[in-house]
Amino acid sequence: DIKACLFDLDGVLVDTAKYHYLAWKRLANEMGFDFTEQDNERLKGVSRVRSLEILLEIGGKELTDKEKELAAYRKNEWYVEYVDAMGADEVLDGVIPFLEELKSKNILIGLGSASKNAQKILEKVKIDRIFDVVIDGNMVSKAKPDPEVFLNGAIALGVEPQNCVVFEDAEAGVEAARRAGMRSVGIGEPETLRLADIVLPSMAKVSLDMLVDIGQEA
Ligand code: BG6
Ligand code: MG
Repeated sequence: DIKACLFDLDGVLVDTAKYHYLAWKRLANEMGFDFTEQDNERLKGVSRVRSLEILLEIGGKELTDKEKELAAYRKNEWYVEYVDAMGADEVLDGVIPFLEELKSKNILIGLGSASKNAQKILEKVKIDRIFDVVIDGNMVSKAKPDPEVFLNGAIALGVEPQNCVVFEDAEAGVEAARRAGMRSVGIGEPETLRLADIVLPSMAKVSLDMLVDIGQEA
């Protein structure tokens, strides 16, 4: 049975991809090349450092380590400006009722995010207090698809991986869940989230009944 749900943040609970996009685009434009929304798809679920490498590859630029550090720092400063302006209305549809439903059924709630800004974002959109544990980009050494972030969440909650369900919008995140020995709900397109046990177009479609179904399958 299901004892805990572990949530990715960006793209599952909030739509921060648009803010990452604007900040990366600003950096690209300063370096003299363009960065499109389609390019931004490649950065979803990817760490800050790796995102910068992909961006530089797109622009055909090379930077020294020191310059990379500064570029990533500046991008983050711009990104955090957007985050600071976020409010409770930016929690995606269906998220709050579902989290409340989990709480009422005593199912534990965890966050497993690559973002180093995760705690701040949860506070801004006022859902931080509902989480029993938050594992973010400051606490893991290996990025998704490595299962570390979700395994740490399960350990912190005292729950076995087979009793956890992961909610993810990124392919690497679904793979991380599978490698952790957890079931997963993909949020997005079935074509990109093949490893998920089920795929839903958005959190608005999630219900506890559906969780029970994938619980029985395992
Ligand atoms: C992930 C996002 O959740 O966090 C990525 O999907 C982002 O796009 C990554 O790059 C790291 O975020 P941050 O806030 O630490 O730069
Ligand atoms: Mg995500």
